[in-house]
Amino acid sequence: MADDLCFFNKDSFIFKPPKKSTLLSRMVVLIFSMVCGVYICSICLRQISSRSTARLLSVQVVRPCEPIDVEPSEKPLVHFPKPKTFGRGECACHPVRSFAILSTQRSGSGWFETLFNSHVNISSNGEIFSVKPRRANVSTIVETLDKLYNLDFLTSASKNECTAAVGLKWMLNQGLMQNHEEIAEYFNTRGVSIIFLFRRNLLRRMISMLANSYDQNAKLLNGTHKSHVHSHHEAEILARYKPTINVTLLIPNLKQVEEMVTKALEYFKSTRHIVLYYEDIIKNRTKLIDVQDFLRVPRMELNSHQVKIHKGPLSSQVENWVDVEKALTGTAYASFLEADYRI
Ligand SMILES: *[C@@H]1O[C@H](CO)[C@@H](O)[C@H](O)[C@H]1NC(C)=O
Ligand SMILES: *[C@@H]1O[C@H](CO)[C@@H](O)[C@H](O)[C@H]1NC(C)=O
Ligand SMILES: *[C@@H]1O[C@H](CO)[C@@H](O)[C@H](O)[C@H]1NC(C)=O
Ligand SMILES: *[C@@H]1O[C@H](CO)[C@@H](O)[C@H](O)[C@H]1NC(C)=O
Ligand SMILES: *[C@@H]1O[C@H](CO)[C@@H](O)[C@H](O)[C@H]1NC(C)=O
Repeated sequence: MADDLCFFNKDSFIFKPPKKSTLLSRMVVLIFSMVCGVYICSICLRQISSRSTARLLSVQVVRPCEPIDVEPSEKPLVHFPKPKTFGRGECACHPVRSFAILSTQRSGSGWFETLFNSHVNISSNGEIFSVKPRRANVSTIVETLDKLYNLDFLTSASKNECTAAVGLKWMLNQGLMQNHEEIAEYFNTRGVSIIFLFRRNLLRRMISMLANSYDQNAKLLNGTHKSHVHSHHEAEILARYKPTINVTLLIPNLKQVEEMVTKALEYFKSTRHIVLYYEDIIKNRTKLIDVQDFLRVPRMELNSHQVKIHKGPLSSQVENWVDVEKALTGTAYASFLEADYRI
């Protein structure tokens, strides 16, 4: 009995080790399941992360337009605007180039711009910065340019979704010279190309300025002032007015314009640019092909309905021609007296 008891005791004693082993096996199971859990978790995490990178990859594949047919060196010059105001439709992935026509008043830039806008893929939006609040400071200038180059500046020159070159006409005295450092930096970082358009004969330009400012008050065309005309009849009426040039101020004025042009060329020399002269375009229309090539737009025949106001020899366009001739003969500006082109 004692033996039995003992046995029992023993048995019960022996019975204990299995208990211990269950505890051990439980521990093993627990550790195993923990390891399994960690393993499963790590797999799950890995799958989630790989799925999210897959999602990121697929987003990257869908989003950007590739600048195909663009020279590697020219990639910084193109962008793919996403206008807020309309969708670019089938042309969403057509690259767009940004340009600025830098000019001075009465240098043929109005005429030049009408030629430009006759191109189906060019949108030149006029003298946006003739409105003073837009050129109040660098931030308003940048804001306006951002809007323009994103195709969100809607003017009569805004084109369809297939615009390939977008820009404006900007006179040197419209905040451009004052803020030239920041503007050159903007042009260079955004890949804006410059088209300088100047007039060689600054005397003709001066006559045009004087006549235009006279007409601002006189309003020769039935009481309305016009800077540009579309009929020979209107041109004839405007050309009847012959300004008198103040010969004391003549040379200082010519010098001042010349210096401003030289400075502008210096300020923006690091920006991609082309220099055009009004007289050269009139004499040689292949200049218009050069500028289309410069913007990499398809070559097209460009046309304008504008009519030139002042034609013929200068001597018939100025009231005090004899004085003007006397003032300029023998100076660096004597060549301005000569007829430089015929129309
Ligand atoms: C120019 O515009 C036309 C007509 O909208 C379009 O078919 C063509 O693809 C455009 N060209 C470029 C280079 O964007
Ligand atoms: C720029 O001008 C605008 C409008 O006149 C004004 O609201 C803004 O505070 C100015 N910003 C700076 C930096 O001067
Ligand atoms: C001025 O008005 C008259 C009559 O209203 C018209 O015949 C003429 O063509 C107009 N001239 C110009 C330059 O618009
Ligand atoms: C020319 O301009 C000067 C300087 O503004 C002025 O003193 C002079 O009276 C002007 N001459 C004529 C003929 O208007
Ligand atoms: C016209 O301009 C082009 C380049 O813009 C030049 O190659 C050509 O010689 C010019 N033609 C004349 C007649 O000046």
